[in-house]
Order: sequence, then C-alpha cells, then structure tokens
Amino acid sequence: MGSDTVEQPAGEIIISSDRRYHALIGEHLLQEIGERCRTIGFSGRCAVITDTNIAALSADRVKQSLSSAGFKPTLITIPAGETSKTLEQVGAICDQMIAAGLDRQSFVIGLGGGMVSDISGFVAAIYERGIPHVQIPTTLLAMVDSSIGGKTGVNASAGKNLIGAFHHPSLVIDDVDLLKTLPRREFNQGFAEIIKHAIIADAEMFTALRHVDLSNLAPLVRRNIEIKSRIVAKDELDQTGERALLNFGHTVGHAIERAGDYREFLHGEAVSLGIVAACVISIKKAGLPKDQRDAIADLLSAFELPTRLPANFPREKILDGLQFDKKFQGGKVRFVLTPAIGSAHLSSDATMEDIRDAIDQL
Ligand SMILES: NC(=O)c1ccc[n+]([C@@H]2O[C@H](COP(=O)([O-])OP(=O)(O)OC[C@H]3O[C@@H](n4cnc5c(N)ncnc54)[C@H](O)[C@@H]3O)[C@@H](O)[C@H]2O)c1
Ligand SMILES: [Zn+2]
Repeated sequence: MGSDTVEQPAGEIIISSDRRYHALIGEHLLQEIGERCRTIGFSGRCAVITDTNIAALSADRVKQSLSSAGFKPTLITIPAGETSKTLEQVGAICDQMIAAGLDRQSFVIGLGGGMVSDISGFVAAIYERGIPHVQIPTTLLAMVDSSIGGKTGVNASAGKNLIGAFHHPSLVIDDVDLLKTLPRREFNQGFAEIIKHAIIADAEMFTALRHVDLSNLAPLVRRNIEIKSRIVAKDELDQTGERALLNFGHTVGHAIERAGDYREFLHGEAVSLGIVAACVISIKKAGLPKDQRDAIADLLSAFELPTRLPANFPREKILDGLQFDKKFQGGKVRFVLTPAIGSAHLSSDATMEDIRDAIDQL
C-alpha cells in the first residue's frame, strides 16, 4: 500500500510500489496508440470499447494506429449514455470478445468518457479473470477523474456504481485534442471535479483557475491527475478515509442528481451544488471564511456551473436521496469539510440538520 511520501514524477502515476503506470498527456496522441501499447509489451488481439458518439469521431484513427503496429483490434460500440452502464451490457461485450477470439494475453482499450471508462475497466477486470486495461479518456471529467484510481463498475437497478472491482489501467493516454468536440455542458462539468481538487488539495491551482488557458489544457490535466493519484496512493482501497476526501461536494451532489432523476443535472453540475452546500456546512463546522465560500461559488459560476437550485426543484427529494448514500450507511454521517481552500478533512461533526439547512440555502 502507498505512503505519504509517494513521489509522483511527471507522467508517471504511482499507486503503490508494485503498481505504477504512465499517463501520457498532450496533443495528437491518438495516432501513437499502437506504438505505445507495443512499448509496454502488449501484442495480439485487443477490444476497443467505445460509445456510439465517440465511435463516429475517433474509432477509425484508434483502430488504424493499432493495426499499423501489428495488433488485431475488435471495435465494440455500445449506445452512448449512462443507461448502457449495466451488467447486461457487460455480458454482451464479453460475448463479443469471446467471439473475436480474445484470450488471456489480450487487452481492453476504453475509448470514451467516464461511462466507457467504468464499464470497459470492469470488463477488463473480469474477462478471463482479469486482463490489462488501457484508458483513452475523451471527456475532461474522464481525464481528470474517472480514468485515475482504478475504480471500475456498472450501475444496479437499486443505485449507481454498486457493482464493480478495483482494476488499475496499464496505460492512460490523454489526447486533449479530443476535447474540441465535447459539448459545452459536458466540458464545463469537468471543471466541477477540477475545482473540487483545488479546494481539497491545491490552493495555488484554485487561484490559477481564474485565468486558465483553455487552448492549453495539458498542464491542467496533468496537475489534476497528480492530485487524484496522490490521494488514491494513500488509500488505494478506499478504507482509511484519505480517499474519501475526493467525495467533497458529492454527498449532497449525489442526492441532488438522484432527486433530479439523473436528467435535470449532469454529475458535475450536481457536484457544483454539492460543493456550495459543503461550503455552507464548512463555515459552521470547520471555520471556513465566508469570503472563501464566495470565491468558490464565483469560480463555479465562471465555468457556467450552477450554485443555486431552480425555484421549482423538488428539494424534499434531496434528503430522501441521502438515505441511499453509501456514506450514510449505519446511520453515521461522514462528511468532508474544508477549513480553508487547499485542505479538507473527514468529519463526523456535520449533522442531518446542518445538511438540511445547507440545502435550504441553495
Ligand atoms: N471510476 C471513477 O472513479 C469515476 C469517477 C467519476 C465519474 N465516474 C463515472 O463517469 C461517468 C460520467 O462520465 P462522463 O461525464 O465522461 O460521461 P459520458 O461517458 O457519458 O460522456 C458524456 C457524453 O459525451 C459524449 N462524448 C464523450 N467524449 C466526447 C468527445 N470527445 N466529443 C464529443 N462527445 C463526446 C459521450 O458520448 C456522452 O454522450 C459516470 O458513469 C460516473 O459514474 C467514475
Ligand atoms: Zn464526481
């Protein structure tokens, strides 16, 4: 398991002494995928799992690069959208991989946003009891969040991400060119996780985000990968509470997502509201200065993320949603608070009453 002293050299992600891999971050990387996979020792067959939107934009280039490097890629396209993240779809993908002759020496490439990251990673975790996974994230959220940390899985009818496995990728390739076709709302929601990282771990990045250069995103992606992987390295299996810091803004955020039936808000938008709620509670229970709460709300707004609920939103449903939150199991409230931008801690001081008040203020 990792320790506090884990160093994170540029581009290399170190989760623990026996688990390290590279994240390549830059432009025009899609055409290098075949070569990069060869360099890390892969050969033979692979499955490229993607969704219908991305298949039309990028699948040909990925297949071409793999074929030129001597691989035998099989493209598996699933419908775009969170409704594809199911066990049924996992079974269908595995059947296609078996039919294509993939074996224990084969590997899986996930080409897509967080939905594809999660399901392709889970397929890699269970196919032939586990084969390597290469992540090619195509959304900002997937680059800075879901492709890092090894959490893979699918949704159950009772809730999101209830079925899964830890399975770290062998390689992550972040081609920031891919972000040019991302719809604006999808792009902006990635900043909710980036601002979350700044609040919990990086005050300097928080300040820099006011003047971020959107035409040069590679340094920002790199910095966020470093933040997330450093936190994951301290608590790979989400057991000590260190990794739980990444849930800042997510307790209320998830409940808002659920209350809006996963249609009203994108994940990052709901997290933006959850961050504002967590700041209100942090003022009360962790001494967060009010002007820092204002600065956080301003920064979220600068990326067109919501900081207030619409007047007609069913607020009462948000509290119902909290009962389903994994962090509330056993009746114990574990809430991430920030005493100042750049730091966070897990606390049991926040009560249901505090949470109710914070939601009322949204
Ligand atoms: N494993 C983790 O640690 C982790 C962390 C955060 C989120 N997640 C998961 O990530 C998922 C959300 O990810 P997401 O927000 O990336 O959603 P997504 O994968 O559904 O992508 C959003 C939309 O953008 C489209 N798209 C993707 N890349 C594109 C591109 N380059 N150009 C044009 N369109 C593109 C997709 O087809 C889709 O319609 C959720 O399932 C969530 O549970 C997992
Ligand atoms: Zn999130």
